[in-house]
Amino acid sequence: MRNTLFLLCCLFASMGRAQVPGDLVFTIDANKPGAPIQPTMYGVFFEDINFGADGGLYGELIKNRSFEFAQPLVGWIPFGRVTVADSKPAFSRNPHYAQISYSGQLTGSGLENEGFRGIGLNKGEKYLYTVYSRTAESKAMKLRLELVNSNNEIIGSTETEVKSADWQKLTGSIEPKSSDMKAHFRLTLLTQGKVDVDHISLFPEKTWKNRPGGLRADLVQALAEMHPGVIRFPGGCVVEGNNLGTRYNWKNTVGAPENRPFNENRWNYEFKHRLTPDYYQSYGLGFFEYFQLCEDLGAEPLPVLSCGLACQFACKDDHCRVPLDSLGSYVQDALDLIEFANGPATSKWGKVRADMGHPAPFNMKLIAIGNEQWGPEYTERLPIFVKALREKHPKIQIIGSSGPFPDGKEFDYLWPEMRKIGADLVDEHYYRSPQWFYTQAARYDTYDRKGPRVFAGEYAAHTTSRDNSFESALAEAAFMTGLERNADLVHMTSYAPLFAHYEAWQWRPNLIWYNNQQVVLTPDYYVQQLYATYKGTHTLPIQMNGKNITGQEGLYASAVVDAKTNEVVLKIANTGIVPQKIKLKLAGLSNVARSATVLELKSDRLSLVNTPNAPEAIVPREKTINFKDNEPEVTLDALTFWVLRVKR
Ligand code: AHR
Repeated sequence: MRNTLFLLCCLFASMGRAQVPGDLVFTIDANKPGAPIQPTMYGVFFEDINFGADGGLYGELIKNRSFEFAQPLVGWIPFGRVTVADSKPAFSRNPHYAQISYSGQLTGSGLENEGFRGIGLNKGEKYLYTVYSRTAESKAMKLRLELVNSNNEIIGSTETEVKSADWQKLTGSIEPKSSDMKAHFRLTLLTQGKVDVDHISLFPEKTWKNRPGGLRADLVQALAEMHPGVIRFPGGCVVEGNNLGTRYNWKNTVGAPENRPFNENRWNYEFKHRLTPDYYQSYGLGFFEYFQLCEDLGAEPLPVLSCGLACQFACKDDHCRVPLDSLGSYVQDALDLIEFANGPATSKWGKVRADMGHPAPFNMKLIAIGNEQWGPEYTERLPIFVKALREKHPKIQIIGSSGPFPDGKEFDYLWPEMRKIGADLVDEHYYRSPQWFYTQAARYDTYDRKGPRVFAGEYAAHTTSRDNSFESALAEAAFMTGLERNADLVHMTSYAPLFAHYEAWQWRPNLIWYNNQQVVLTPDYYVQQLYATYKGTHTLPIQMNGKNITGQEGLYASAVVDAKTNEVVLKIANTGIVPQKIKLKLAGLSNVARSATVLELKSDRLSLVNTPNAPEAIVPREKTINFKDNEPEVTLDALTFWVLRVKR
């Protein structure tokens, strides 16, 4: 219904105008490169929401591997005799473990793990297990480890023995004889007596770069193919916490993964209509792994740290704000993080990094203090960080917040404050309707150029259905022409959120969806990918009738030149429901190539989405268009986004 209304509106809007072929002329000054496009211009924002880390990017297949959820057996189906204990634990910061006793029950005694909405297994691939165990028995205690499919059939099995009274690490692999998306992992004690088990872990052998205990390869591949220039992590609201105790503390996320203390994820209970009581953070994906991911993908790392305020939506009491004179440890966390990322391997925190296998610095250049903070609570805390950071690390760029909304009281208060405080960039967030995105294509044309640059750190067009449909993607594509045109001011951007598990999401839309075996890229993903891949090196002026193209006749456009490939690249969105013939006047070029390559994202159904059953319902298609002369005429179909590349 909404789509129909939208189409009718577009139809009426376009009816008043005669369709004269060639009456629309885009003039592109191909020889007048403007502002450089920053390498960070198109990035990604990772937040541990929607099972983004555990159950998503982090390759671990066992949920609650350390028995540290508030209910320590969540995720586990115990059978026979199983209790939870914490005396003389294997890991001081994850002290709970399971004690399994077997006295001849027919099933044996043991534990079955349900994974993250099941365990995805692929035939022909190996799965590496780790179990820490000990026994007070004087004999070897036999454990059977099994992969069990969704029909309760055993599709892979192995045995191992516990022989030591001290904690001992058992490792090995199992290869399933068939694939399953919702398998379980079962551990059974076969010998009469008692064993303790902890940190029961299972990873695919094939992780990103085949790193043991690494990241899910298909998800990282999807990120790599976006060519992000910057990665903002680890949130979002998870940075702030619902109270200061549950805020994200990066120091808990480095060192041996077994001993990183679990934290309840605030998205566990944040949305009452989407409760996810089994959502915790194991921090197996921690700050070392984020920095390494950035390095792998050639993206600048942008960590976000707590500014000493818990989420201001959720927590308004005094105990949710660190008093100004007690902020020292928070400021120290920021300074220590820079040492962790950039310090020599001989420094305290540089050594932690080196011991984790990365003696060379990560060369971090950006830091954000606070997420969506607002009010004087924020503006009196931020300067304390800025002063300390400027003194010790004057080259690090500091990102401040403009609050949770793209306009209004808090936004209007914060921008001038950020100028006064001297933030290098100001983070703006907008989750708004497609119509809002259309009207905001000129948003940055009139921004003050003095002072901080803009980081559009979280944005997404929210349709009424909140689907990742072509409708949202087209609105974002049109709006992004305005980001690109203003690349002198807008230095970084990232869609949000990034990831979502089909069966465990709290928020939508999201850029990349997945189940335990499959990744589904959204039309919004392709828009981001097209902009980032063809971001060019400098802006070029592009106008229609002497004006920026920001919605006239339903058209939006921006242009860049790529000095490396020697191409002029146009991004054009036709958001109306009639095709548009456009004459391209490439001023400043004596000879225009006689053909151009176009990547086209289009559909006549605004509601079209990609799904696990139809993952390519809407994807960009490449075509070549031929030019007759120096002022070629091109036709953009209705509801179409183009990236057009022509050689200079
Ligand atoms: O992206 C989801 C949430 O939206 C982020 O955690 C927060 O910063 C914003 O409100």
